[in-house]
Amino acid sequence: MFKLKLKDRHKHLLLLVKENKFRLFLAMVCMLVIAVASAATAFLVKPVLDDIFFNKDAQMLIIIPIAVILVYFLRGLGSYGQAYLMNYVGEGIIRNLRNDLYDHIQDLPLAFFHKEKTGVLMSRITNDVNIIKGMVSTAVTGSLKDCFTIVGLTFVIFYRDWKMALFAIVILPLAFYPVVEFGRRVRRVSTGCQESMGRLNSFLHETFAGNKIVKAFGMESYEKKRFSDRTLELFKLEMKVVIARSLSSPIMEFLGGIGIAFIIWYGGSKVIEGTSTAGTFFSFMAAVLMLYEPIKKLSGLNNAIQQGLAASDRVFDIIETESDIKEPENPVQIMRKPHRVTFEDVFFKYDDVMVLKEINLHVEAGEILAIIGMSGGGKTSLVNLIPRFYDVDRGVIRIDGTDIRDASISSLRDQIAIVTQEPILFNDTIRNNIAYGNRNATNEEIIKAAKAAYAYDFVQDFPGKFDTNIGELGGRLSGGEKQRICIARSLLKDAPILILDEATSALDAEAESLVQRALKNLMKGRTTFVIAHRLSTIDYANRIVVIVNGKIVEEGNQEELFAQQGEFYKLYQMQYSNSQDKEFQPE
Ligand SMILES: Nc1ncnc2c1ncn2[C@@H]1O[C@H](COP(=O)(O)OP(=O)(O)O)[C@@H](O)[C@H]1O
Ligand SMILES: [Mg+2]
Repeated sequence: MFKLKLKDRHKHLLLLVKENKFRLFLAMVCMLVIAVASAATAFLVKPVLDDIFFNKDAQMLIIIPIAVILVYFLRGLGSYGQAYLMNYVGEGIIRNLRNDLYDHIQDLPLAFFHKEKTGVLMSRITNDVNIIKGMVSTAVTGSLKDCFTIVGLTFVIFYRDWKMALFAIVILPLAFYPVVEFGRRVRRVSTGCQESMGRLNSFLHETFAGNKIVKAFGMESYEKKRFSDRTLELFKLEMKVVIARSLSSPIMEFLGGIGIAFIIWYGGSKVIEGTSTAGTFFSFMAAVLMLYEPIKKLSGLNNAIQQGLAASDRVFDIIETESDIKEPENPVQIMRKPHRVTFEDVFFKYDDVMVLKEINLHVEAGEILAIIGMSGGGKTSLVNLIPRFYDVDRGVIRIDGTDIRDASISSLRDQIAIVTQEPILFNDTIRNNIAYGNRNATNEEIIKAAKAAYAYDFVQDFPGKFDTNIGELGGRLSGGEKQRICIARSLLKDAPILILDEATSALDAEAESLVQRALKNLMKGRTTFVIAHRLSTIDYANRIVVIVNGKIVEEGNQEELFAQQGEFYKLYQMQYSNSQDKEFQPE
């Protein structure tokens, strides 16, 4: 009746259900109680009418009300028990699924996060998983209870008048056909709804996170209009779901009405003939009317399943995405010590376009290598290859002779500290931000790192000192201060390889000088890759490479490159032609 194809992904869901066998069993007992109590209610209509009202039996007048109270009490108890147990199972499954999803997303490579919008991913974990919950709780909770109840009531109608019961059974599938048809439509449209919701989320994320730019460019009304267009799109889709969903009920009710009209005509004529009693007729009627609720719910079940399957497809699409940055079978553990890093004939592309070509680099342990070049040249891509955020397309990168693809990813990344242009801190205390990735750090170590990063003094001015939450500070932290906390974090990690990707580019000259001093402390004794836009920031480099369009075009120290009058010289000319005050003096 329901299009339930058990793909592997749905088996995964069922496995989660199976873990709760005992609770499910108890819940089923509760459902049986509900079903028997419901059937008993319809069953009792006959003695009420025939024994009390027609035969005026005084004893029954006591017994039946007591029986009614008992039946309703048991039914209430059963309802509570099954609702509690089934929701416990449902919520638990959803929690597991959310955790699985989050764990999996965390393990996906950086490329995945560049492709997928944050808002869409958030919508997968919040919205879609919620819809699956709807499916699991309605499907498992509702359907079993309703099936049991239907069986109980069907028993009553057959017991009271089997001929009339047969007729009712014939009508049922007819009433179901439109329901199945509408279910299909609901699934289709609700997929559209969820996709639209995901887009809405990522839109919100962008315009709230980037609100400063929205305001600065006076784009508020433009964004309001765009948002309103998106909510309109969602509105239209939601309304389609509403139409499909709300049409299925009245159609069923109408078909049910036809059936009831017939039962009244047929059953009534038998009572008039004297071959049946009013009690039998009304008991039958009561059971048929009571059948309506569970059947209607079962039809809603189809919709819930269709929506849930659509949502679970989206969730499992992510769960089944495999990371192409794989841990080798026999990973080499890289030990903590100064490292030599070599690029041998490395090529790299994102999609089709090669962004790095023929890269050959030998960086000795403890050497500071500066990488410069115009924006878009491939500098960030080059350093992203070292921690295996991406894998090379051709060639090899080695650390002390070991191909990094043969190393355990965690031991590889353990060797590397990164400071980027955008200082990323988490909404946690300053202490925890500095100790990020190094939770066992002692207070002394944290303070030492903060001092070396020139962050200690300003942290001391905060109300909670190192226990101040980053969130509490709001906009109070300047770019330079954030960057110095990031540097403290890297100092504490104490990794032998250091990557500085335009760490000072976003700062003004004053903030930069402090950050520069902090960086100088950080670089000491480490194999360092420093990407810099401003030539003034590469004074301590032992060697400089210039990258143009993904190729290393020049290599040497400042004096040599300056004398060559090539790319480096051009960059220098561009930067200093307008500022007389900054004399460039090669050593
Ligand atoms: N995630 C990405 N997907 C596709 N192309 C990218 C991605 N990141 C960078 N690129 C492209 O790769 C080239 C090099 O970029 P990048 O390494 O960031 O340069 P740089 O750091 O020197 O400014 C650019 O043409 C850029 O458009
Ligand atoms: Mg870059």
